[in-house]
Amino acid sequence: MEKTSTILIADDDPGARLILQRLLAREGHRVLMAQNGAEALRQSIEHTPDLVLLDVLMPELDGFEVCRQLRRHPRLREIPILLVTSLGDHQSRVQGLSVGADGFISKPFDMAELLAHVRTITRLNRYRRLLAEQERFQRLIELSPEGIATINAEGRLLLINPALAALLEAPSVEHLLGNTLHTYIHIASLDRYQAGMQALEQGVQQVPQIEVLLVGVNGRTLPAEISLGRFHDQNGSFAQIIIRDISERKRAEAQIHRQVSRLTSLHAIGVAITASLELSATLNILLDRLIEELRVDAASVLLLNPRTMNLEAACSRGLPSPIVQVPLCSEEGLAGMALRTQQTVSLTSVPAEMLLSERDRALAALFAAYFAIPLRARGEIKGVLEIMLRESFTPDDHWWTFLEALAMQAAIAIETSVLFEELRRTHAELQQSYDATIVGWSRALDLRDHETEGHSERVTELTLRLARWMGLPEDQMEHIRRGALLHDIGKMGVPDAILLKPGPLSVDEWAIMRQHPVYAFRWLSAIPFLQPALDIPYAHHERWDGSGYPRSLRGEQIPMAARIFAVVDVWDALRSDRPYRAAWTEEQAVAYLRSLAGTHFDPQVVRAFLEMFGYDRGD
Ligand code: C2E
Ligand code: SIN
Ligand code: SIN
Ligand code: FE
Ligand code: FE
Repeated sequence: MEKTSTILIADDDPGARLILQRLLAREGHRVLMAQNGAEALRQSIEHTPDLVLLDVLMPELDGFEVCRQLRRHPRLREIPILLVTSLGDHQSRVQGLSVGADGFISKPFDMAELLAHVRTITRLNRYRRLLAEQERFQRLIELSPEGIATINAEGRLLLINPALAALLEAPSVEHLLGNTLHTYIHIASLDRYQAGMQALEQGVQQVPQIEVLLVGVNGRTLPAEISLGRFHDQNGSFAQIIIRDISERKRAEAQIHRQVSRLTSLHAIGVAITASLELSATLNILLDRLIEELRVDAASVLLLNPRTMNLEAACSRGLPSPIVQVPLCSEEGLAGMALRTQQTVSLTSVPAEMLLSERDRALAALFAAYFAIPLRARGEIKGVLEIMLRESFTPDDHWWTFLEALAMQAAIAIETSVLFEELRRTHAELQQSYDATIVGWSRALDLRDHETEGHSERVTELTLRLARWMGLPEDQMEHIRRGALLHDIGKMGVPDAILLKPGPLSVDEWAIMRQHPVYAFRWLSAIPFLQPALDIPYAHHERWDGSGYPRSLRGEQIPMAARIFAVVDVWDALRSDRPYRAAWTEEQAVAYLRSLAGTHFDPQVVRAFLEMFGYDRGD
């Protein structure tokens, strides 16, 4: 096939045409014929022959003129042209050269001369075609947005495209030529690169997707993914390498990893806090033990509120509620005195005229004995423990010792609880701020793909409604909410050129797009607090019949939350404009969901969705 050339014979003499045609057809060429110069031009333009044989003397346009015009034609100027002249017509040959002919054939024909010429020219043509092919290929490589290089057996760069020079921040392609590629690979990823090269040497034809760190000529590093392939030709064995910049994906991953580590420590604190007892529970246990062991009739713990400097009852036993409910100023009465002096105060030690506060007088009316013990932890006064007896009473040493131990324990519990209270508040605030972060992530994503604006929050709201409508347990709602907000977080790892592409995706682009649930899984599974929320990001593109991605789950293998979400996601996607198409109407979207019940979607979920919206009449 390559050997066949298309040859145009232009001669007004039918006999000459016939002789040439027979000869060339026998050699396997395709022969076109023209009877005059005008026709020769027309045929050339139409068929772009590989060789033109031009008679000099023809009516209308002579061979010289045809030759001149062909040489001016942008597409045809390189066609080999042989002029057919009479033997010894020296003047025609000189004129032929001046208009651009490549050679001459003598009339009457010398068959050997003719065949020799044609063979030389068709062989040259073959090389020209190869060169053109190579040029086109070269052009492709030059235009590729991905770095491409050929390296020889010693690892030296032989062919480099501009994208690779740009990735390595080299001033030019020439700057890199002849250098060894591994000088541009960071030492941390050299092993991986060399393992890939070794696999090639051992006969593996292709090594896809090795993640490496490149080091540019200025020392800047850049994360990249490389694919290696191998080829041989007469000059030896070579590796072909394709280098893809993945810094965009890495940036998204790094951002998420930072959040991950914060969320992880947050979670640990959360567990500790919920495991610890509430202060009031601790104090309740404490007062119960106190009343039983010390046989007193009433007791209370008053806490000093550092903000108001009031003493407030945290817990009490055996006291009428009016007494409990009135807050005391820290200066007030016997309790205030215990606080101020940091000494135990007892009623018996205080003369009646000193009972200035109303509360003390009420207590004195009810009880014969009263003790106020200051509660100190780490040298700081936290409050007062009061105990009361109806009968008058003289304590012994054991009684005092036990009381002091309890007072100490109460003080420690208070101290701990203050710490924990602070942690709890911080935890609650952080929890809120992380929920805000989640909303922020989802908005950032919607913003990047501006056509999907509001999509995340809309689908979240709809998914929660549908989940409740279908009777999913209330304690799953928080996880469903977070999962829905983050469902397409993995698209942060998909380059803009793909995510925002206005048209349909190529096979390669789809392969990357289909990774987005996997990216989401990788990033989010490191966050304990988001683990229960993973079902939706990881499984929202699975399909009921098993034809989905990334795991080809089928039927009830797909988590319920993801099955519900899938319907809502496609609904909202179809009802919105996308870079690659305009929004569908409500009727179209309903018909579409209904048509995919049992194949793409869980039929039960589609039914519930249509019921919830009041579309359930249907067929
Ligand atoms: P998305 O735009 O959020 O779409 C989510 C899902 O809704 C799609 O999952 C698909 O099941 C459904 N969907 C959305 N638009 C259409 C549509 O025009 N026709 C039909 N029949 N279904 C539709 P899928 O197919 O797995 O796509 C996942 C993501 O891949 C899409 O998210 C979008 O970001 C991207 N994508 C899909 N097709 C194209 C495309 O042709 N061009 C570009 N640039 N991106 C696409
Ligand atoms: C190229 O850009 O030529 C490489 C295509 C690929 O392997 O992704
Ligand atoms: C698309 O969004 O164009 C793909 C539709 C599909 O595969 O369901
Ligand atoms: Fe998605
Ligand atoms: Fe979506």
